[in-house]
Amino acid sequence: MNTPTTPPPALERLPRARLPDLLARMPKAELHIHIEGSLEPELIFALAHRNGVALPYASVQALRAAYAFTDLQSFLDIYYAGASVLLREEDFFDMAMAYFRRAAADGAVHAELFFDPQTHTARGVSMGTVVEGLARAQAQAADELGVSSALILCFLRHLSEEDAFATLEAALPWRERFVGVGLDSSERGHPPEKFSRVFARCRALGLRVVAHAGEEGPPAYIRTALDDLQVERIDHGVRCADDPALVVELARRRTPLTVCPLSNVKLCVYPRMEDHALPALLRAGLCVTVNSDDPAYFGGYLLENYRALFAAHPALGPREAWQLAANSFEASFADAATKARWQQALAVAVQSLAD
Ligand code: HPA
Ligand code: ZN
Repeated sequence: MNTPTTPPPALERLPRARLPDLLARMPKAELHIHIEGSLEPELIFALAHRNGVALPYASVQALRAAYAFTDLQSFLDIYYAGASVLLREEDFFDMAMAYFRRAAADGAVHAELFFDPQTHTARGVSMGTVVEGLARAQAQAADELGVSSALILCFLRHLSEEDAFATLEAALPWRERFVGVGLDSSERGHPPEKFSRVFARCRALGLRVVAHAGEEGPPAYIRTALDDLQVERIDHGVRCADDPALVVELARRRTPLTVCPLSNVKLCVYPRMEDHALPALLRAGLCVTVNSDDPAYFGGYLLENYRALFAAHPALGPREAWQLAANSFEASFADAATKARWQQALAVAVQSLAD
């Protein structure tokens, strides 16, 4: 189990007026970003041109105009269409480097990236092309930007268990390149337990395990992600708020939730940011984190998610900003010494703003 960090004393002296600076300058980790969801329309068109792929949109503007989503599926249809321009190792490298630059500008010092191999292997792109392109960007981001990162291979839950097993097998030659596995795509009708046996195999291989649950799906999916898949973090998980006993259980275990505020509003999980459950979940003692999910589609990268959340919830102040950043380190898959170094850098950032 993770242990919470104690707040630095300087936090008490930090006036609310410093909140915008704190949000921007505090070091933080991003733990829920689908790298294919960082493909900006301009890059989609550039890659389509470079690779000779035809797009069903006439222009960047027409593509952007289609980003009016009513639910998760309406987004996924466009997201998979956007990913169709990714063919060569260079494409995966360019996409990930563009993301790392944005993340670094937002104060991220670490990112754990989801990638969806089945979206690419189904189009004849090899696992090696995907993984090596991303890995090269990871190395360059560490060198040039000082951003460390890890990859999490996601299984598409609308596909079969058999397909997930085949994907795992195909990825094993690159086992050292990814830290864990996750579960994403269409949630309703595809409960976590559909993949119990795949996740058992992944755990036996020493992989870290996470799953999307309780984004649109019911709290019962969060329970089976915990009990059947034995995940270490829940991605989204906001619908636990409908089940008070589950909220207590998540707080007791300190199971992290990787929450994505702008995504939840764009996909109509909440009508407005003001309605978001994050402040209540934080007050209930959950290890909540803030993340961008698919920033090119949902209107903002990591810092914009913090800003939009804090702008809509006046009860959130410097104390909660610090808590969310501290949680992001606590919930990461980095080793204990690295986490302690990040927590120290966070305390120093708070101190320098209070002086
Ligand atoms: N939910 C499920 N699958 C996804 C998402 C999401 O928010 N983004 C990309 N794939
Ligand atoms: Zn997601």
